[in-house]
Amino acid sequence: MTRVLSCIQPTGGVHLGNYLGALRNWVIGQHECDAFHGIVDLHALTVTDRPGLVGPSTLELAATLFAGGLDPEVATVFVQSHVPEHSQLSWITECTVSYGELSRMTQFKDKAAKREADFVSAGLFTYPALQAADILLYDADEVPVGEDQRQHVEITRDIAMRFNSRFGETFVVPKVVTPKAGAKVTDLQEPTAKMSKSSNSDAGIVYLLDEPAAIMKKFKRAVTDSDGEVRFDRATKPGVSNLLEILAACTGRSPAEVAGSYSQYGPLKNDAGQAVVELLTPIQHRYRELMGDRAELSRLLRRGADKAREVASRTLQRTYDNIGLLPPN
Ligand code: TYM
Repeated sequence: MTRVLSCIQPTGGVHLGNYLGALRNWVIGQHECDAFHGIVDLHALTVTDRPGLVGPSTLELAATLFAGGLDPEVATVFVQSHVPEHSQLSWITECTVSYGELSRMTQFKDKAAKREADFVSAGLFTYPALQAADILLYDADEVPVGEDQRQHVEITRDIAMRFNSRFGETFVVPKVVTPKAGAKVTDLQEPTAKMSKSSNSDAGIVYLLDEPAAIMKKFKRAVTDSDGEVRFDRATKPGVSNLLEILAACTGRSPAEVAGSYSQYGPLKNDAGQAVVELLTPIQHRYRELMGDRAELSRLLRRGADKAREVASRTLQRTYDNIGLLPPN
């Protein structure tokens, strides 16, 4: 059975890009694959410098993942810091990747530039090594992500191949998987930029927990263009194409097919907003229910971590053995 691993950071609210680019595909995949999904709280520390924030966000994110359809009876959902093997393997992956390779990561360059005068941690730089450890610990065949994570999966492949050639077959070399529609949802106000938790304004970001009226308002105000033609063309019509792609992803059609049904922007904006509201309303109800029983959420996460550790500890031991580290006794 294909083994799948993918993770999400507990920084800010989950948005439509996270849902269409990742979570929805994890939910579909959990029935065909052996699925592992992590809430990567240690990754969040690369940009966190205040106490008491990451813990509550982690629990809220767990409720969002379960509300979105991850079934704890089927998929293994765990918190990264509950599985210490992630930190342990990340030292090995750091020693298997070069300074030059890490310097070329576009996400590091973007995030470091956005922080300007703020503290840029070494963790922000070595972040892809921890991400590689997340993936390699589970012998993942596939990593379902949005387009922005492609480079991080590619560097993971390089790390796995380099380690295997140095120390013998140890890691499965994973493949990146992105969805046909929804792999890069862009900001409704700035349609050439990806929808991102770290944007300056919330006006172009649709959060999973936004009220229906707020969602409709964001879609009605979405930036388009002035030529008035409904056509799918990311390069010259980014705003309209984003709306078409969102509606396509929500309704299981292709963006070009959706474009054929519209001659004006107004109805397209309205229908895209409606489709998103329909998709998110049941998730919001389940989220509220789940947040009403935090002890149960914690229990589910504890069970997820136990299952994750069974796999992760075997991979870590195999890695130490293949390197030839001296066993403790
Ligand atoms: P994160 O937390 O930023 O995002 C979680 C998932 O959502 C996808 N995504 C998007 N997809 C489409 N359109 C968008 N605008 C959009 N924004 C985000 C991301 O591609 C991702 O799949 N580094 C990762 C977390 C991570 C990870 C891993 C992922 C840590 N270890 C191991 C996979 C495997 C991140 O920051 O994702």
